[in-house]
Amino acid sequence: MAPPQIEGATFVGDRVCYDCHTNISRVFPASPHARLRLDHSQMAGQQGCESCHGPASKHVAVGGGRGRFIVNPGHDPEACFSCHLEIQAAFHLPQHHPVLEGKMNCVQCHDPHGMDIMKPAGGLAMSRLNQNCAACHRNQTRRFIFEHEAMREGCTVCHDPHGSINAKMLVQRDSNLCLKCHAQIQGPGAGGIGHLYIGKIDHTDLVRYGTCWSAGCHTAIHGSNVHPRMLY
Ligand code: HEC
Ligand code: HEC
Ligand code: HEC
Ligand code: HEC
Ligand code: HEC
Ligand code: HEC
Ligand code: HEC
Repeated sequence: MAPPQIEGATFVGDRVCYDCHTNISRVFPASPHARLRLDHSQMAGQQGCESCHGPASKHVAVGGGRGRFIVNPGHDPEACFSCHLEIQAAFHLPQHHPVLEGKMNCVQCHDPHGMDIMKPAGGLAMSRLNQNCAACHRNQTRRFIFEHEAMREGCTVCHDPHGSINAKMLVQRDSNLCLKCHAQIQGPGAGGIGHLYIGKIDHTDLVRYGTCWSAGCHTAIHGSNVHPRMLY
């Protein structure tokens, strides 16, 4: 948990920032990161503004300014990784948002200072989450005539937002992704023991050909304008 380094600078504490960065200083106490103060180490630099921005004595001494003895982690996620090692690991998985490649950064999805850690702020948590993804993924988030109700639980029921070993950053690579919500009736009935029913349809043979969304079946998984069963 080492904070970012700034040659020759020391920690000055959050109060010093208030006069020049009033707006950020006002909203910050409601941020999950402000709780660090209470829950975690009291060591200088492991709490408050300087845990992400580095020791600020030189920045303050020169009267502040952009690029002047202060770290701006918006451009470089290293400051975040000093505490979020497991997130760093996720971005190293084969399928990931291109943050380490420098094409995206954490703050396109997260607000580092505010109470709502997801961008945009306001509204219900789930719709906010989908709205965040909608900023870049229009095709999956537009309105459909036949909606897939799974979308109401948010994109993250099916996708890992940081990274995954599975194609398309899916949380599961096979039909279990769908079966966790879609009741399966296995046992006596028309098909007999060991048959997989979804709705009234026997899927036993169908799922052998591939996942529910490949093999030409429920390919319009985010919603469809032509078919209620999420087909194209
Ligand atoms: C969790 C890490 C984190 C903490 C804690 C944090 N910041 Fe930031 N700060 C960031 C990131 C990331 C950016 C870049 C935001 C962006 O580019 O949109 C940033 C940007 C800024 C900026 C530049 C804003 C601009 O207009 O470009 C200022 C000023 C700032 N922070 C001040 C503060 C102050 C003051 C505090 C404490 C009250 C604080 N920060 C706490 C991560 C943090
Ligand atoms: C004497 C006034 C002053 C003080 C005190 C001050 N800053 Fe700044 N800081 C500025 C000015 C001016 C800028 C230029 C950008 C702006 O106007 O918001 C700036 C910019 C920044 C940036 C953006 C740097 C960049 O390269 O984009 C960060 C981050 C930042 N300050 C953090 C802090 C933190 C954290 C503290 C408290 C520990 C602090 N500042 C204290 C005046 C100050
Ligand atoms: C000094 C350590 C530290 C740094 C640096 C840090 N974080 Fe955190 N972050 C934490 C801790 C601890 C929590 C858990 C807070 C809690 O649950 O009270 C957290 C929580 C979060 C959360 C989840 C908040 C929630 O509501 O559960 C997000 C998102 C996050 N951090 C993003 C970032 C980003 C982006 C950066 C870099 C700009 C960053 N963090 C830098 C320690 C840090
Ligand atoms: C593509 C958007 C996106 C990007 C980019 C992104 N995150 Fe997240 N992050 C999310 C979503 C979505 C969640 C889950 C929020 C929820 O469930 O409410 C999340 C959750 C988190 C959490 C909470 C713990 C957890 O594992 O759920 C932390 C910490 C976090 N992100 C840190 C980061 C850091 C650090 C970066 C940059 C290196 C980053 N994120 C980049 C979308 C993103
Ligand atoms: C700031 C823009 C941005 C935001 C916000 C964003 N993404 Fe992405 N997303 C991208 C980029 C860029 C790629 C990589 C595209 C590529 O490599 O062709 C990507 C790739 C993906 C992929 C994999 C696509 C593929 O073909 O492998 C999925 C799935 C995805 N994003 C889901 C999400 C989800 C879910 C959210 C919200 C939590 C989200 N994205 C938020 C920009 C964004
Ligand atoms: C019910 C599960 C589920 C939900 C919820 C879901 N997705 Fe997907 N998503 C999938 C599956 C499955 C694929 C892979 C489809 C394929 O390979 O043809 C996929 C693929 C994608 C792709 C890649 C598209 C492409 O053409 O390669 C993006 C981007 C994406 N989803 C974004 C989102 C966003 C944004 C949300 C939330 C608004 C979301 N998804 C919600 C299951 C889901
Ligand atoms: C988070 C839970 C959830 C997940 C995960 C999920 N679904 Fe759904 N799905 C629903 C709900 C709720 C409905 C609407 C009620 C119903 O028909 O069961 C629905 C409806 C459907 C329908 C329309 C059924 C009909 O008869 O009109 C199809 C087809 C479907 N889902 C396929 C899938 C596929 C394929 C996957 C995996 C990629 C999947 N679902 C993942 C919750 C989910």
